[in-house]
Amino acid sequence: MGCATSDLSGDSRDDAPLVKLTAPQKELIKESWEHVQHDASKTGVIIFVRLFESHPECKNAFFNFREVQDLEMLRVSKELRIHGLRVMSFIEKSVARLNQPERLEQLAFDLGRKHYHYKSIPKYYMLLMMEFIRTIQPILTDCWTTELEEAWKALFLFLTGTMKKGYAEEEKKQKQGVA
Ligand code: HEM
Repeated sequence: MGCATSDLSGDSRDDAPLVKLTAPQKELIKESWEHVQHDASKTGVIIFVRLFESHPECKNAFFNFREVQDLEMLRVSKELRIHGLRVMSFIEKSVARLNQPERLEQLAFDLGRKHYHYKSIPKYYMLLMMEFIRTIQPILTDCWTTELEEAWKALFLFLTGTMKKGYAEEEKKQKQGVA
């Protein structure tokens, strides 16, 4: 099986409607997550270092990292390891709730509301997805397929799309409160 990647460049898919995962997609995600989760801590760090390499402005959301110029320092940062693990734990929770869409939606919605306060704007969420895919692909070399990639993208589109709604709701609430 090949390891095909499809074009994820640009923000054109940012406003894509929420995607419903099919039963085979859920199975693919569950099976592959078993492999990815073994090294969740390291994987979380790699994802964020890559995100900061390609989009240094994302560092500004993190009080502890915004002044760090040397990304090699971040690779050994305890704070980044903890943050990477938080993100990976969220993915783990999402995988566990694939068959409970309402609970999953609530979880992602609440996370989006929190991200409004973290000053992490929605256009960055898809970047994280791209780095996630880029990072897990070599871990899953033997079983990587276009279908597997599409399944992970579908999950992230659902999560990030719902996070954006939570972000927008919180933004509206805060602006109304201030007005
Ligand atoms: C799919 C995209 C993302 C997911 C699933 C995600 C997940 C998480 C989770 C689970 C937390 C911990 C929430 C808590 O306190 O309970 C968190 C915190 C945070 N996230 Fe994200 N995140 C995403 C994208 C981003 C991006 C792109 C940025 C920066 C540009 C960012 C910045 C932050 C910050 C600043 C915090 C709080 C500080 C910290 O926990 O160290 N997030 N995120």
